Order: sequence, then C-alpha cells, then structure tokens
Amino acid sequence: MTTRTQVAIIGAGPSGLLLGALLHRAGIDNVVIEQRSADYVLGRIRAGVLEQVAVDLLEEAGVATRLHAEGLPHDGVNLSFDGQRHRIDLHRLTGKRVMVYGQTEVTRDLMDHRAAVGRPTVYEADQVTVHGFDGSNPWVTYVEGGVARRLDADFIAGCDGFHGVCRASVPRNAIQEYEKVYPFGWLGLLADVPPVDHELIYGHTERGFMLASMRSSTRSRFYIQCPLTDKVEDWSDDAFYDEFQRRLPPDAAARLVRGPSLEKSIAPLRSFVAEPLRFGRLFLAGDAGHIVPPTGAKGLNLAASDVGLLSRALAEHYRGSPAGIDTYSQRALARIWKAERFSWWFTQLMHLFPDNGPFGAKMQRAELDYLVRSEAAQKAVAENYVGLPLE
Ligand code: APR
Ligand code: PHB
Repeated sequence: MTTRTQVAIIGAGPSGLLLGALLHRAGIDNVVIEQRSADYVLGRIRAGVLEQVAVDLLEEAGVATRLHAEGLPHDGVNLSFDGQRHRIDLHRLTGKRVMVYGQTEVTRDLMDHRAAVGRPTVYEADQVTVHGFDGSNPWVTYVEGGVARRLDADFIAGCDGFHGVCRASVPRNAIQEYEKVYPFGWLGLLADVPPVDHELIYGHTERGFMLASMRSSTRSRFYIQCPLTDKVEDWSDDAFYDEFQRRLPPDAAARLVRGPSLEKSIAPLRSFVAEPLRFGRLFLAGDAGHIVPPTGAKGLNLAASDVGLLSRALAEHYRGSPAGIDTYSQRALARIWKAERFSWWFTQLMHLFPDNGPFGAKMQRAELDYLVRSEAAQKAVAENYVGLPLE
C-alpha cells in the first residue's frame, strides 16, 4: 500500500511534531511516522525550560495557548555552592526570561493540535526504513499492524532521536560525529510536591551536583548527580530525598517537602554532534543530530530551533528557492555548537569531577567565585541561558 506526501517526518517527539505543525501552518503536507505508541511518547519525562525562541515557534505553530495559561515565566535562576545561593537576574541582564513548562506538556499540546487539524500520525510503526534520499524521490517503508506500507515523499525529516534510524542510514563516510561522554549521570525524581523555591536552583556541592526544578506550583522535578554504576532500583524515594536535601542550600533544604515519586530515572550525560545535517533529501533535526547534557536545558530548545529553520527552508523550497535547504545544515549547526559549548561549560562548572584533581577543583571554585562576583560573567551566562537568537 503506497501513499504520498510532501515531507515524511520520522519520529513524533517534540522535533517531529513541531516540524509537522510548522509545515502545516505553511500549507505543506506531511505525515509523521513513530515507532512507539502515543502514550509511550508522553510517558518520557524530560526537561522543562523553554527559551523565548522556542515559545515564539510554538506560537507560530498555533500551539501556545496552554503554554501561556499554565507555563511559569522565570526572570532569574540560582546557582548555589558553599551553602550560599547566588541569583542570576536573567531579565535585568538580557531583557528576556524563560518559560518553565514541561516537555511532556509541549508534546501533548502538539499531539492534540495535530489531531485537531487532521494531519496523519502513524504510531507503533515497525521496521521503519528510509530509502532513496540521495536521489529525487525518497520513500519510507514500515509495517503498520502487520501490513507493509510505503510512503513516497519529496523530503524525509529525521526527527527520530539519538537512537533513530535516519542518522544510522547515512553512509559512514558522509558523516562526521563528535562526542563527549561524562563520567556520571543524573538521577531525577518527579513528585507532586511544591517547589523548594520560586526559581530553579543549580547547586555544586562536595557530594556532587543538584538541581531543584519544577513543573508547576504543585509539581517538582529534582535531580542529583550519581555514579553511572548506580541503578534506579537502588534509590528509594527516601534515600533520594535524603541525598538531595544534603545538597540543597540550607534555606531551600528547610522548605523541602517529600512525596512519593511519580517517576524516577537515571540519565547519562553526553555531548554529541553529527555533521552535516543534510544528506540529499534527508534532513536531521533535534536529538537525531545532536545531544547536549541537560545542564542548561538546551535539548528541547535546540530541537525547536532546528525545526524552525528546517520548516522555513522547506517553505522556501516550495516557493521556488533552494537557498534555505542548501544552508539549513550550516545555519542549524552554528546555533547548535554554541548551545553545545554552553551546556558543556555549565556541566563542567557545576558537577563534581573526581578525576580533575586538586588543581582542577581549585579552578572550578575560582570560576564559580568569579561568576557570582562579576556582572560581565553573569551576563554571558544569562545570554546563553535565555537562548541565543535564531539567525
Ligand atoms: N522509527 C520511527 N520513530 C522512531 C525511530 C524509528 N526507527 N527511532 C526513534 N523514533 C522515535 C522515538 O520513539 C521518539 O518518539 O523518534 C522520537 C524522537 O523523539 P525524541 O527522542 O524526544 O527527540 P526529539 O523530538 O528530537 O526531541 C528532542 O527530547 O531527548 C529530548 O533533550 C531532548 O528535549 C530534547 C528533545
Ligand atoms: C527540568 O526541569 O527537568 C530541568 C530544568 C533545567 C535543566 C534540566 C532539567 O537544566
């Protein structure tokens, strides 16, 4: 059974769904093909801080109503070390703020919007395979409910995440990969308890990193740095809260409310970039093309900026100009590398790196100390935290 569309989108994470919504807005036909179920996709708990650039793109796509009603605008962010907290006034330093709104909610809004406008999504597609993207008529094959299907398209958008099929289908000699793996993970816990503060707290302690984040005034997301050898089953909720509380600055520790975990998981930290992001009629966007460590919450924001650029490039193509698709990879990568740099730097600054040795530890302390005393240094952090412009 064969069907045809303009853009075949592989993956129904935030990249694929936002790309679909932006293309729909531009009048470009698209089909999303996802290997998991919608519930499975919604069950993945990820970060929850949106840059203005991402909010603008969600607005452009027509999916920002709930985000504006329920999202929490934050004007500042806190760094803590030595039991002291230091606020970085994002809004005063940059004129911008960030929006706290979970990736799960963004995904839900995008799914609802897609259903409402009637664009097709195939969930639980098996054996998804991309073909012919080095020629002018690419196509996708997959199996849906035991039936083999073929989807012909003008373009394929690989929005299928780090482990997806699209990047893996590119000949090895056509792609260069850059990677850094960090020697620890983040153990995260989600619970219906009030946040420990009205803003996020990123903490560096001699026991390791901690982050106190939130989803709403009644739901919190907490993280602690942990060894990669730890297993989530070894961490009871109480053990998590005990360790998290020890790493919080004292005023916030005193406000910690404990409650049963709704979700608890360990995520490894990785920096990864693939170059280029275009192979003939196949484009990579989001986690399919790059990964950042979560420090700074750039993953979802980069996914949004990639598909913002890609949707414009494709719209230009359909208006008769190839310039957009020819420069997509280069333009997207320019922004990606800057977010990679910030996420890497912020990770180095805040975590405990036992292998750095005493000199490395002193450098880290000097940098933290400098940062909280220098407005110039804070401005550089703020500018990156709220997100660089989409150029
Ligand atoms: N065929 C179809 N779908 C696939 C395949 C495949 N072979 N492989 C993976 N997928 C799907 C996954 O099931 C997932 O739903 O592609 C989707 C990719 O979604 P994400 O991993 O969420 O990636 P992306 O949409 O780029 O979003 C990036 O997610 O990982 C976070 O921090 C990251 O916030 C960032 C965001
Ligand atoms: C989150 O809320 O999950 C979160 C927030 C900020 C980060 C990472 C994760 O830097």
